[in-house]
Amino acid sequence: MSEETLSNLLKEDRRFEPPPAIAENANLKADAYERAAADREAFWAEQAERLDWDTKWDRVLDWDDPPFAKWFVGGKLNASYNCVDRHVEAGRGDKVALHWVGEPVDDTRDITYAQLKDEVSRAANALTELGVGTGDRVAIYLPMIPEAVVAMLACARIGAPHTVVFGGFSADALASRLEDCQAKVVITSDGGYRRGAPSALKPAVDEARAKTASNGHTVEKVLVVRRTGQDVDWDDDVDVWWHDAVDGASADHTPEAFDSEHPLYVMYTSGTTGKPKGILHTTGGYLTGCSYTHWGVFDLKRDTDVYWCSADIGWVTGHSYMVYGPLANGATQVMYEGTPDSPERGRWWQIIQDYGVTIFYTAPTAIRSFMKQGREIPDKYDMSSLRILGSVGEPINPEAYVWYRHVIGGDRTPVVDTWWQTETGAIMISPLPGVTAGKPGSAMTPIPGVSAEVVDEEGTPVPNGSGGYLVLTEPWPSMLRTIWGDDERFRDTYWSRFSKQGYYFAGDGAKKDEDGDIWVLGRVDDVMNVSGHRLSTTEIESALVSHPKVAEAAVVGAKDEDTGQAVCAFVILRDEAGDGGEDIVKELRQHVRKEIGPIATPRQIMVVPELPKTRSGKIMRRLLRDVAEHREVGDVTTLADSSVMDLISSGIDSGK
Ligand code: WT7
Repeated sequence: MSEETLSNLLKEDRRFEPPPAIAENANLKADAYERAAADREAFWAEQAERLDWDTKWDRVLDWDDPPFAKWFVGGKLNASYNCVDRHVEAGRGDKVALHWVGEPVDDTRDITYAQLKDEVSRAANALTELGVGTGDRVAIYLPMIPEAVVAMLACARIGAPHTVVFGGFSADALASRLEDCQAKVVITSDGGYRRGAPSALKPAVDEARAKTASNGHTVEKVLVVRRTGQDVDWDDDVDVWWHDAVDGASADHTPEAFDSEHPLYVMYTSGTTGKPKGILHTTGGYLTGCSYTHWGVFDLKRDTDVYWCSADIGWVTGHSYMVYGPLANGATQVMYEGTPDSPERGRWWQIIQDYGVTIFYTAPTAIRSFMKQGREIPDKYDMSSLRILGSVGEPINPEAYVWYRHVIGGDRTPVVDTWWQTETGAIMISPLPGVTAGKPGSAMTPIPGVSAEVVDEEGTPVPNGSGGYLVLTEPWPSMLRTIWGDDERFRDTYWSRFSKQGYYFAGDGAKKDEDGDIWVLGRVDDVMNVSGHRLSTTEIESALVSHPKVAEAAVVGAKDEDTGQAVCAFVILRDEAGDGGEDIVKELRQHVRKEIGPIATPRQIMVVPELPKTRSGKIMRRLLRDVAEHREVGDVTTLADSSVMDLISSGIDSGK
């Protein structure tokens, strides 16, 4: 973000006080900050009491060997029991857990907690039958259908860590994840619905399985949900229909209590190298973090609220705020399979009206696209049920915040701009709906129990009014425990930058305003944020150079009105490729789609004769960003060859 935008942001002086009705009955009130500050561990222990423990912990935090944390040491619990059974045992079995809305109109299912318990138990029995044991990894590659939730909880129930791979990822991306965590079983479906048409998933699993096999890893079984009814290739030794394995299984299953630190899941996310990082979350601390924040930040009233988080289950938001947080809290929620504009652009608002949604959580990129379509569309619906709105994934620009609050929330609803990451597991910085006077564009302050700072290069907190790096200064229960199979990378990535202070380095830049409130500005590393999804520049560069016509590639994230950032690529072709042919750009875009997935498709690919490099050979992405954002190219004095930028600019101007 440029300095100019930044100072504009900090001039933002609109404030939105909490509505009195919410403030009065708020789950979290101002005193929580003081209580947490007075005794952080006691505060977190109090939050852990929201869960049902089989064996209580004997130590809240073991931080004897940082950065390897253990929370609620000695405690034992089952995550699936906490998300399902205990609500049924408490007499709330008939309460709807999921109002599932399929993309085809009228394709809906309401699933109560009792039904969910039966289905999860059957799936747990079926997985055991397929040979999945405690500690085995299970990959889940599914559309937004109830079976995705059931599959996750079934894995948790038998202590088999799941790794959910976003359905929009390619076969190659799936294969690398299967290999990295050595997944034994994959759960998928024939396909799902996207914009009114069935879209296949199973072929990608077949391809990924063949690929891992050629690298010496065997996926033993593939469990396939029938969703669209489309044709699938079938391998009798490996493929099993979900309806054959699960529907006939017993609905009785006794959940085993696992250690608080038992691995719950691995979620892959992009880092600064080409290889995605498998972020490991464990059971007790993670579930405590999700449950506490979902209750506190969204002010969840279990018996009256209808909650909806629009995230896909393939991202961490879907894990923490569609599965583990809301279900641990016994909430009633909406789960929607499709796209916001299918079959028409008011689909989301229709769902809010139909189900009386009271709490809605989505991403700024979606809000901006609705803004663009105009308020006439949402204005047609009755959304007076809404009382709290949430935002996540990227900085929300003040205009989008104000529009969201005004047009969607009818000016009644606080907007909670929640900052967190795959690694943090749960919300870290956010306004509290009953306490904070929100400033549009600011994530405000760390929530009770969390300690964050903005520091300079040396790790010293910056004064109010200045910017620096965002760090978390104390461990928290839902923190990542390591990168799967790579403790060294875990240390290097997050803990080496401010090792003297022992701070967690988040990779984001941030500013403290004159009141000390935090404005998150975006990544300071080679990670892009496209529509709230994290992409690595290096990963896309590797994809591009794997194409036979490409010699070298450099990728930058350029500012984009709709998606926050967009992927812009600069490529040098191999000599033998000549000018690459007429369709070279199309061909390369298609190649990236295939290698990574549609979300990584470059908005723009520029074929250039050279790339700007320093004398030590490092690509100066800053200069490429200037080109991509149509700015005057900045300081070129550290370039090995300062004429390169002229070459690039003239090549682009002449349309080559
Ligand atoms: C990165 C984490 C957390 C779930 C979704 C993304 C950016 C996230 C905000 C926010 C400004 C935000 C950061 C962060 N980010 N929320 N409210 N304001 N930036 O998870 O893929 O792990 O990405 O998203 O840059 O580091 P993720």
